[in-house]
Amino acid sequence: MKHDSVRAVDPAIADLLDQETHRQASQLEMIASENFASPAVIDTMASTFTNKYAEGLPGKRYYGGCEIVDQAEELARDRAKELYGAEHANVQPHSGAQANQAVFLAFLEPGDRILGMDLSHGGHLTHGSRVNSSGTYFEPHFYGVRESDGRIDYDAVRAKALEVRPKMVIAGASAYPRIIDFAAFREIADEVGARLLVDMAHISGLVATGVHPSPVPYADAVTTTTHKTLRGPRGGLILCREEDAKAIDKGVFPGTQGGPLMHVIASKAVAFLEALQPGFRAYQERVVENAKELGNALLARDFHLVSGGTDNHLLLVDLRPSHPDVSGKDAEHALEVAGITMNKNTVPGETRSPFVTSGLRIGTPALTTRGMGPEEMHRIGEWIARVLSAPTDEQILQRTRAEVEELCGHFPLYAGDVATTV
Ligand SMILES: Cc1ncc(COP(=O)(O)O)c(C=O)c1O
Repeated sequence: MKHDSVRAVDPAIADLLDQETHRQASQLEMIASENFASPAVIDTMASTFTNKYAEGLPGKRYYGGCEIVDQAEELARDRAKELYGAEHANVQPHSGAQANQAVFLAFLEPGDRILGMDLSHGGHLTHGSRVNSSGTYFEPHFYGVRESDGRIDYDAVRAKALEVRPKMVIAGASAYPRIIDFAAFREIADEVGARLLVDMAHISGLVATGVHPSPVPYADAVTTTTHKTLRGPRGGLILCREEDAKAIDKGVFPGTQGGPLMHVIASKAVAFLEALQPGFRAYQERVVENAKELGNALLARDFHLVSGGTDNHLLLVDLRPSHPDVSGKDAEHALEVAGITMNKNTVPGETRSPFVTSGLRIGTPALTTRGMGPEEMHRIGEWIARVLSAPTDEQILQRTRAEVEELCGHFPLYAGDVATTV
């Protein structure tokens, strides 16, 4: 990607843009929440739509001159509804966190009880953590996964819901490798008279293509980011039934946001169109196949996977049984030096602090976008094992880095002005 106009004004930023493109192309990007958006998605963001103020909704704006951006937002809304089979879509949330905040505002009163997945068991900060507004303006309670098999214990969720009587149950996670049973969550919510919010941020690409069951028939509101498995621009999306549409729309604007980012909304429309193409399902299937292959490669090298494997795009490795002296933090650092980017993560029954952790979260969406497949996953599994067997051995780290760069050279990313593989 070229940045000639940026270079003419600001060479420092232009250099950083080039360096970041090179970093992404020359390393193995395995952060489970990241992906490589297509040139069409990126170009749409870098457009004159960024200049436009459009508070309100299509046809009901607080500013003039919205007739073009209105059409873009209509396309985004219609495509989102078609993609997920939803009655109503709000495409304005600036991010996943803000999508969740808007739903809280629409469905809850300050102080109401909420029941979400524990952060240390794979939940998200915006599902009731004390350091997030969801945990300070509302009364948070949590469910987790069974320590024995790392899976959600739906009986335990139900027992907790009956004890707490929350106004809203939240399903969805940032680090959960298994299928989530949304029908079970609906039953639990109904039993206690709660609203059900499903935050499908991580799995929304899988859901869009039927590779993971959809929460749309079960949830009162479904939130997602658009930039993870869905492979669109950074942003958020809310889906709901027609009867809640007004409350949700008000929760976004004026509830929690000002002017929508029209360049990002137009880019979401492009991403939804890409996701509606038949090839997108094949891509999502390969994402899961790659995660399973990488899991097998790690299991063969005595790594411990939380829940024993994966049904989706990510793996959660508990390093304690195989590498008791290597923390998640140390592992993340050593792998980064070797050119493999992923993140440390807490694991169920965590014994270290959240800044150190005993786990690694590994995702396959980005490498699958580059065209990598099972063969590459096995090589990467071998490299991960090699690095973690000697995480401070500079020679091993540098040798691995050279091999990583050689592999990346075979899967060019954003080569020249256009991406070759995205
Ligand atoms: C489940 C879940 N919800 C919400 C978010 C927040 O999204 P954003 O970073 O766009 O605010 C994330 C981000 O990682 C997530 O994993």
